[in-house]
Amino acid sequence: MPSADEIRAAQRATWAGLSVGWEKWDSVIMNQLGPVSAAMIERLDIADDHQHLDIASGTGEPGLTIARLSPNGRVVLTDLVAEMLDIAVRRAGAQGIANVETTVCSADDLPFDDATFDGVSVRFGYMFFPDVAKATAEFARVLKPGGRLCSSVWVRPDMNPWTTIAMQAIATEAVVPPPDPSGPNMFRCAAPGQVSALYVGAGLCDVAEWDVDVELVTQSPAEYWQMISEHVSLAVAALQQVDEPARERIRATAIANVSAFEKDGTVRVPGMARCIVGTKRQ
Ligand SMILES: C[S@@+](CC[C@H](N)C(=O)[O-])C[C@H]1O[C@@H](n2cnc3c(N)ncnc32)[C@H](O)[C@@H]1O
Repeated sequence: MPSADEIRAAQRATWAGLSVGWEKWDSVIMNQLGPVSAAMIERLDIADDHQHLDIASGTGEPGLTIARLSPNGRVVLTDLVAEMLDIAVRRAGAQGIANVETTVCSADDLPFDDATFDGVSVRFGYMFFPDVAKATAEFARVLKPGGRLCSSVWVRPDMNPWTTIAMQAIATEAVVPPPDPSGPNMFRCAAPGQVSALYVGAGLCDVAEWDVDVELVTQSPAEYWQMISEHVSLAVAALQQVDEPARERIRATAIANVSAFEKDGTVRVPGMARCIVGTKRQ
C-alpha cells in the first residue's frame, strides 16, 4: 500500500502529463460534464457575494461557473497540480472572469482558516485523494456553519460506456489489473452511499445523493478514440504498457465498438455520475 506522499507524487505526475489533453479537448469535456456542474450548483445555493472553495478544480470547473454566478463573491480554485490550474487561469481570462484566485494544495491539507467558505465543491476529484476521510474533514472544517459541500463521482463502469468501450478495447492487448479499491482510480467512489458516509463521518447533516446522466459527444468514432486516449487517466496509463502495433489494434477495436453509438454524423456515448450534498451544522 503506497503512502500518502507516494500517492500525491504519482497523482501529480499523472495529471501534469494529462493536462495537455485536458486543454486540447476542453470544449468536449466541458459539454460532457456540464450537466454535473449544473446539478451541483443547484444544491450549493450560490449567493451574489458567495465565498467559495473549489477542490481539485483542474481546468476550473465548477469553480469558474460559480464565479460567474457570484459577481460580488470570490472563488478559490485549488488543485494538487499547477499545470492544471494554469489552464484554469487561461480559461478564466478567456471568459473575462476576474473574481477567482488559485492555490496549489492537496485536498487533505488545506491552507485555509476554519469557517472561511460558504460553499465547497469537488467535481470528479474525490477518487484521487490519498485519504478521503481526512479530505472530507478538511472540507467540513473550512465551511462556515450552514455552508454546503457538494461533490460528484463516477458510478460503476458498466453505467459509463463512454470509458468502458475504450478500456475493453485496451484489455484485448494489455493486462489491465483490477484497480486497488482503496487507491486512486476513477471508479473508487462508485459504491452507493460511500461518499455520503464520509460526509456523515465528518459531521455534516442533510446528506443526500442523486445520479446525473451525462453524454460524451464527438464528431466521429476516430475523434472519440483520440479524445479518450489523450485525457482519461485509466486509458492513458494502460496504453503506456503496449507497443505501437498493439496501440493501433486497440484503436481499431475501440473505433469499431463505439460506432454503435454513431447517428446522424455524431457519436453520443452515455454515462452516469453521482452528486452528493451535505450541510455543516449551525
Ligand atoms: C478528473 S480531474 C477533475 C477536474 C475538474 N474538477 C473537472 O471536473 O473538470 C481530477 C483533478 O484532481 C486533482 N487531484 C488529484 N489528487 C489531488 C489531491 N490530493 N488534492 C487536490 N487535487 C487533486 C488532479 O490534479 C486533477 O486536476
